Amino acid sequence: MYKIKEGMLAWILHKITGIAIVAFLIFHIWSMSKMSKGPEAFNAVIETYKTPLFRAGEVLLLGGVLFHALNGMRLILGEFTAWAMKQHKLLVYLTYILAGALFLVGAWFMWRAEG
Ligand code: HEM
Repeated sequence: MYKIKEGMLAWILHKITGIAIVAFLIFHIWSMSKMSKGPEAFNAVIETYKTPLFRAGEVLLLGGVLFHALNGMRLILGEFTAWAMKQHKLLVYLTYILAGALFLVGAWFMWRAEG
């Protein structure tokens, strides 16, 4: 069976999260422009943000941003130091562990907060 190597998975996730963050920014600017149309429009958008689907999206966004930022720093480190290139495998796993741990803590706080 085809096995995705750790670095390959990080490469795919980096692309997906990078594009997802840009997509979020476009959506965010669009929804801000809707909100600025008056108090009713503002409240309507806020109500939509409180729905489980949007709250789950925000939690997913946290995961994407965390992974992209940490993996991006790993990539930059690899560009500048021979050490990081040599420790590639360890750093990929550290990225997964750190991003995963921060995601779990952040997701817990976000989910239990008042919607
Ligand atoms: C701490 C913050 C960030 C770091 C350290 C970072 C780092 C990087 C690095 C090193 C790359 C190049 C990857 C490669 O050579 O394959 C990259 C690609 C990219 N980043 Fe970021 N980034 C950060 C934040 C962001 C944000 C906020 C956005 C969106 C607004 C973003 C969107 C993208 C996109 C679209 C790509 C291209 C994806 C691809 O085709 O490889 N990044 N990032």
